[in-house]
Amino acid sequence: MNIKEKLDTDNIPQHVAIIMDGNGRWAKEKGEMRLFGHATGVESVREALTAASEVKVKYLTLYAFSTENWKRPKEEVDGLMDLLVNTIANEAESLNKNNVKLNAIGKIEDLPDGCRNELLKAIEDTSKNTGTNLILALNYSAKMEIKDAIKKIASEYKEGSIELDEITDELVSDHLYTSGIPDPELMIRTSGEIRISNFLLWQLAYSELHFTPIFWPEFKKEDFYQAIYEYQNRERRFGLVGDQLKEQKNDE
Ligand code: IPE
Ligand code: IPE
Ligand code: MG
Repeated sequence: MNIKEKLDTDNIPQHVAIIMDGNGRWAKEKGEMRLFGHATGVESVREALTAASEVKVKYLTLYAFSTENWKRPKEEVDGLMDLLVNTIANEAESLNKNNVKLNAIGKIEDLPDGCRNELLKAIEDTSKNTGTNLILALNYSAKMEIKDAIKKIASEYKEGSIELDEITDELVSDHLYTSGIPDPELMIRTSGEIRISNFLLWQLAYSELHFTPIFWPEFKKEDFYQAIYEYQNRERRFGLVGDQLKEQKNDE
């Protein structure tokens, strides 16, 4: 039986987030330029998106560029921005055909003009789609997202539109870039690195984390299914003890 058939269709995560890592090392191993790794990584984006759509994952968030990534050599940053513009332009039609709704989180306003415009156009062009939501984390930093939320909440408090004890988990969530999107039940990171790298710090509080040594350009649909399969075989306790979960299940 293949891995996809083994999945419990009643327990598919609504939201899967991925740190797509290892493009550079993959290219280096092949004696290629780092940018070749990024370009090949686009194929893995298609794999992950198709896999997510096939098993009806509603939200797929992909970490494409962090605020820290601006510190890379200019040639790589420019190449990544060009790749982004071209990929969005080339894929917009296929996103529509597949009923995918595109969105973005991060400081989109600070992206280079060409990149931002292409992105906003694709977001607008796919806004009526009702299938998988593809969310690109671009020029993204979780600490910045939390700081921005704190600033907004503080100014609402100062204006008197909220009281201190109205600052609940829900209110904070509603002030993040991901407002309205459920927290990811599963986060995948490729390339063998075991860290979060400033990604969705608030939203990952209770996510299951899946680390795989596979470099992103080699990530395939089966790897996505494998991560969901392992997720389905974990016990998500949310601070309780195992027996309490069994009781909850029996009560259902
Ligand atoms: C991930 O691959 C893509 C981006 C961060 C833009 P890397 O470029 O980080 O590849 P490695 O980690 O250096 O191998
Ligand atoms: C995280 O990968 C950011 C993206 C995948 C876009 P990095 O390669 O930048 O992370 P670090 O520097 O290894 O932590
Ligand atoms: Mg990396």
